[in-house]
Order: sequence, then structure tokens, then C-alpha cells
Amino acid sequence: MCGIVGYVGTKDAAPLIVDGLRKLEYRGYDSAGVAVHAGKGIEIVRALGKLVNLSVALEKHPLLGTTGIGHTRWATHGRPSEINAHPHASGPVAVVHNGIIENHVALRLELEGLGVRFLSDTDTEIVAHLVARELAVAPGKVSLFVAAQAALRRVVGAYAIAVVSKDEPDVIVVARSGSPLVVGLGQGETLCGSDIPALLAHTRDVVFLEDGDVAELRASGVRIETVAGEAVTRPVKHIDWSHVQAERGGYKHFMLKEIHEQPEVVEATLRGRIDLAEGDVYAGEMGVPPEVARTIQRVYFVACGTSHHAAIAGRYWVEQLAKVPAVVELASEVRYRDPIFFPTDLVVAISQSGETADTMAAVKSAKAAGARILALSNVVDSAIPRSADGALYTHAGPEIGVASTKCFTTQLAALLLLAVYLGRRRETLPKERAQAVLQALWETPALMREVLGDADYMHLIAKRIAKATDVLFLGRGLGFPIALEGALKLKEISYAHAEGYAAGEMKHGPIALIDERMPIVVVCPKDAQYDKTFSNIQEVCAREGQVIAIATRGDEQMLEVAQHIVWIPAARDEVLPLLTVLPCQLLSYFVASLKGNDVDQPRNLAKTVTVE
Ligand code: G6P
Repeated sequence: MCGIVGYVGTKDAAPLIVDGLRKLEYRGYDSAGVAVHAGKGIEIVRALGKLVNLSVALEKHPLLGTTGIGHTRWATHGRPSEINAHPHASGPVAVVHNGIIENHVALRLELEGLGVRFLSDTDTEIVAHLVARELAVAPGKVSLFVAAQAALRRVVGAYAIAVVSKDEPDVIVVARSGSPLVVGLGQGETLCGSDIPALLAHTRDVVFLEDGDVAELRASGVRIETVAGEAVTRPVKHIDWSHVQAERGGYKHFMLKEIHEQPEVVEATLRGRIDLAEGDVYAGEMGVPPEVARTIQRVYFVACGTSHHAAIAGRYWVEQLAKVPAVVELASEVRYRDPIFFPTDLVVAISQSGETADTMAAVKSAKAAGARILALSNVVDSAIPRSADGALYTHAGPEIGVASTKCFTTQLAALLLLAVYLGRRRETLPKERAQAVLQALWETPALMREVLGDADYMHLIAKRIAKATDVLFLGRGLGFPIALEGALKLKEISYAHAEGYAAGEMKHGPIALIDERMPIVVVCPKDAQYDKTFSNIQEVCAREGQVIAIATRGDEQMLEVAQHIVWIPAARDEVLPLLTVLPCQLLSYFVASLKGNDVDQPRNLAKTVTVE
């Protein structure tokens, strides 16, 4: 995720900003840049790659001044390159931005129509032009603060921004809506940062901006108004976290932080892609042209690990909503068979890293057979998207915990969008149902927050099962990939043996394992398969297995059979996997944490497997 740092005070800004950006490196980035008010105007230095490249560039072109902003970029719109690196400038202003501007297409067209020439592919550059145009309305009479407010009233989406102007050497204007931004109050200096670690070397007194706030930072302090121009005050908080704690946002592990980030990153993945009024998904975002969507005869998913589980859910959605035959294959198996691909196949390669060797190899076989390739990845311009015909990106930001959590739920969200998109192009999905599915998906992050709010209860259950050596996970329909994912998570980080099974298969083997020592997690929300899965729970109970049910709030009959019930809110069937997976992730996390395991870097596992 992009990182922002700003400094206004009496010291040399550029080295302080680079140092702050270094403290945000854990957020991940592909390029970086700094803009400093250097006496006569704003000067910008940017570099592709690591911060060391920016430091080298700054040695060649030192920026001297006491007001400046800096940025580390994690690409979302436009590939990683120096041209797309922030800050972006227009006239007297330079801007850095974290987030996604939803109405970027419309705004860009409008600005181009007015003769604005864009230098980058980013959505951020729009903000620079909008602010510059507001300043130009009455040159010298409009403050940067007022111009930024006016510009942001035109912007729909999520953003944290920082802006500097040639004409106001002692001011940084910052704003937030949906993306984090913290202001640090020092002695005769004021800072801002995407996250607390960027500020800790200078101050521990901070102000958390709220959505809709615009702030004017001067060395002497901060003044805050809403975008609409109403003055507001925000409390000053004193932070006593260590650097390490601050990087993890106060959580004990990155994995727990990433579990809790899921509502936000699912929102980011949906943002700007849904047309609720039309019950549709914008074609430009999907990586599959409409004519291809209409003519493909099969969707062929390839993936490994957690991404493979997302693919299973993807198959259900594509079959249900788009009525296209769909298959799912483990990428690591595809290459050792003689897979049969057709030019009329849409091969969807799912890989959060975009670098997994087996998935890449499967893509090569499919390409050789002339199939159309869509990459679904979290890393813009990584190897698999680069070799695909199109890419659909999740916006989870970098995932640091080796066990995947937020990448999985964003993959689910993106796959459901893809299924709706295909269904609408193929006219298999009526507008009303598409609207209902998209509305439910749009409301899902709020329900995810509700489920994550009950994390303490999962801690309690984890204590009860922490000593179990074998755990069974069962699920049916869209609950099946979640059972697989729940078992994988537990294995990966708690080192307990766990198996995920289709509930209907229980009678064909796992039932022999069940006794009073065996915890069985059953994914059993009120969905179309509920009655059948509930019968499986009764069969488990008859053999004295301990049932931990993931069930829909209000399901009274579950109270009679399950030892533990984790409630999730009622929701449409299609979006349930985004909710039912959360208790599974939390359960694994707490079991592993209780055992004292290295949760973020479990033994023998790698985040990205680039060998076959
Ligand atoms: C590794 C990771 C898993 C991931 C899998 C596939 O095993 O530890 O978390 O699901 O690779 O990775 P990909 O980047 O292709 O999604």
C-alpha cells in the first residue's frame, strides 16, 4: 500500500521524509519520490524501485528546503515506473496520494476535454490538475487549503493526499477519506504520515484525521475543516507504541492486522468497479473484453494454495451466474498432464503474488494452445499479469504474513465481480439478480466488520481446541472451499493436522475418524445447502464429535447440536464465503499464537513459491 510522509518545519525536509518513508517500507512499494519547496518553486525527484534508488537520485539532485512531501507507491492504476511514481505536478502544485479515485475515467475525460495533457497513467494526476485549476480561478487570491477542498469535492473514492504549492512555501495541505493519514505535532515542526512509524522519530503526539477532513499543516500546528468547509477539532493522542508495534498497527502479528484489514481491502477491490443502478460491472476493470466474455465456451481456473480455494468459489459463481462450464485445476498438476485447452477457453490464473512458478507454467501451456488468459493478481505488472491477455487486480495491498488472508477475500470479491460481468455480457444473469448480488457484495465489508468484532470468542474456542492434533473442516457448496481454506490455515500456522472435506463426502471416509476428541468445524450458514449440512452435523453429534458451527445468527436449532457456535450475520448465499472464512482465519491465528508459533513466518513455508 502506498505510503505518504510530509514535513514542514525548520529542518532539511528531504532526508527526514526519506527516513519516514523507510519506516513505511513494510507496507510494500515499487517506486518512490519526494517534492520539496526549494526556494523558487517545487522540485521533484522520483525513482523506480527501492528507496536506495531515490537516495542515489537525491544525491545527484539534492532538494534543499524545509517543506516537502514524499511517497512510496504500490501500483494500482498504471504500471510501476518513474513516470507513474508520485509526486505528480500540475502548475504550482505537487500531490501525493494513497487510495483509489473511483470517478477517475470521467474526470480524466473532462480534463482532457479542457486541454489538460496527462503525463502519467495514474488516477492521482487528476487531483494535481484539479487543485491547480482551482488555484488558477483567481490567482493569488485562493489559498491552497480552499483550492484543495474545492478539488476534493469533485472526487469520489478513497484517498489520503498531501499537496504542496509553489506559492505557499510553509504549508502542506492534507486530506483523508477512506485511506489512513495521521498528523504528528512536533516542537516547531508538523508532520504527516500514512502510519505512525513514519512519525515516531519526531513526535509521539498525533492527530488521527477522520474521513472528510482537510487539514492545513504549518510548523506551528494544524487547522482542520471538513471538505465542505466546516471547522472541526480532533483530539491529540499520545502514542506509546514501540516501532515494531507501530508497524503492526498495534496488533501482535501482521497476520492479525491483515485479518482485520479485510473489510477495508475488499472495499478497495470493489471501489469504482460496480454500477449498482445498472446491476453491472465496468468492463474496463475486468481484463476481459465484452466480445470475449460473450464467446468463451469454458472458464478454466488454475492456481495453487489459497488461490486455488478462491478458484473453487469462482467456479461455483461462474456456473451459477454466467452459466459457463467451468473447471478448476491445481496449477502444479496441470503441467504434468496433457491438459486440453481450446482457443475458446478463458483461462483465469489466480495468484496473489503473480509469480508462482507452477501457475506461470500452466499459463504457458494454455497460451501455447491459443487460450485467452486472464490474470487475477494482487501485484500490478508481476510476471503472470505480464504474460496474460488481461489482468484483474485485487487491491489488498502487500500481504506480509505468509499465511494468506486478505488476499483470499479480495480474490473472492474480484471473482464474484467477474462472474457477474460474464453473466451480464452473456445475458444469463437478469439485471435484478445482478443488482441484488452486487448490492449484497457492496454491503459485505460492513458485515465482515461485525464478524471480526467477535474475535474474542474465537480466542476462547481456540483455547479449547489448542491441544487437538486433528481437526476436520466440513462445508458444502460455497462452504466447501472455505472448509479447505480453514484446514489449510490451521495446518500452515498451528502445525495441527487438519483436513477440509466436502460435507457430503464425510460418509466416505472421515466419519471413521470421529470420536469425542475430534473437533469438527462445520461451515453451515443458512444457505441453499443448509438442511443437508445440518444433517451432517447431526451425524457428527451421534458419534460424539465436538462441533464448532459457523452459523447464521438466529439459527435456533443449531443451539441444540453444536458445542460452540460462531454467529455470522444473515446475507445472500453468494457473499457468504467472505464471511464464513473469517472465523476460520481467526481460529487458526489464535491456536498458533497460543502455541507460541511464529505466526507470520511459519516453518518451512514461503510466501511466494518460485520453484516447481
Ligand atoms: C504459497 C503461499 C500461499 C499461497 C500460494 C500461492 O504457498 O504460502 O499463501 O496461497 O503460495 O501463491 P500465489 O501467490 O500464487 O497466490
